[in-house]
Amino acid sequence: MGKLEGKVAFITGAARGQGASHARFLAREGAKIIAVDILDSIPDFYATATQEELDGLVQEIKDLGSDAIGLKVDVRDFAQVKAAVDQGIEHFGRIDVLCNNAGMIRVDAIDEMSDHSLDVVIDICLKGVFNGVRAVAQHMKQRGSGSIINTSSAGGIKALPYVSHYAAAKGGVVLATKSWANELAEWNINVNAVAPGTILSGMITGLAGQAGQDPDEAFEDYNANTLFAGNKPGDKGRVEVEDISKVVLFLATDDARTITGQTIAIDAGWTAS
Ligand SMILES: NC(=O)c1ccc[n+]([C@@H]2O[C@H](COP(=O)([O-])OP(=O)(O)OC[C@H]3O[C@@H](n4cnc5c(N)ncnc54)[C@H](O)[C@@H]3O)[C@@H](O)[C@H]2O)c1
Repeated sequence: MGKLEGKVAFITGAARGQGASHARFLAREGAKIIAVDILDSIPDFYATATQEELDGLVQEIKDLGSDAIGLKVDVRDFAQVKAAVDQGIEHFGRIDVLCNNAGMIRVDAIDEMSDHSLDVVIDICLKGVFNGVRAVAQHMKQRGSGSIINTSSAGGIKALPYVSHYAAAKGGVVLATKSWANELAEWNINVNAVAPGTILSGMITGLAGQAGQDPDEAFEDYNANTLFAGNKPGDKGRVEVEDISKVVLFLATDDARTITGQTIAIDAGWTAS
């Protein structure tokens, strides 16, 4: 019997990358999945996921022997998030786990940052996380249980130049996570965050494209200063989406029942350097 048998997880930004990987990991432990993604392009930003990717994920989860629905949701819009939460509860009867994973980044020097760019990054990476928690908290309170896992970033703990909107949003997620852990403990709800290091996903490929750089080269650049970088034994210098999903899965289960308010960096030691 899987560790999440009978449970239901709502995952944002689920059509590809880390979100899709989290969905697979939770489904393999028995969770049913409500997978949501924007599926619309955002002007001046790299491409978001496609309907085909979301449909493919839903089919994959079914092939794993679990069940899933895929919904088109922009996390910036509370009404859309709330409607998807209500639809998910109607369909599966409950939500036990919320993964606020959706995120976008852009390289912007502070004196060249447009209103649009600032709004997009803050509204997806910070307000989007608020929207998820706002939409699901009452349901979890009524049920007297739940696990909320927010996606921060190593870049929200240690500063990086030219992504100050992203750093501020992801740093905000760390503090909001602590705040919600305090607020929701009374209802037996755990609230934690993961802070991934650099991963070669759609985000880094998109960033590299913006900078006119080869994605592998960009990845090596961003990853050069982790504690495990270079030729250290064990080959732990490269953080993969699965490394994040293993921690997300742990936080979603009863194994993490005494952990709340924490942000766990999975970054090959970069934030400790
Ligand atoms: N890749 C990295 O190096 C890295 C490092 C640290 C943190 N993160 C964070 O991890 C999370 C997942 O990113 P990823 O690496 O899988 O990148 P990704 O670009 O592959 O995935 C992000 C997903 O979010 C979706 N999305 C974007 N805007 C949305 C919106 N408004 N509403 C709903 N969905 C939306 C995209 O369509 C995409 O499917 C993000 O929060 C990101 O900020 C990534």
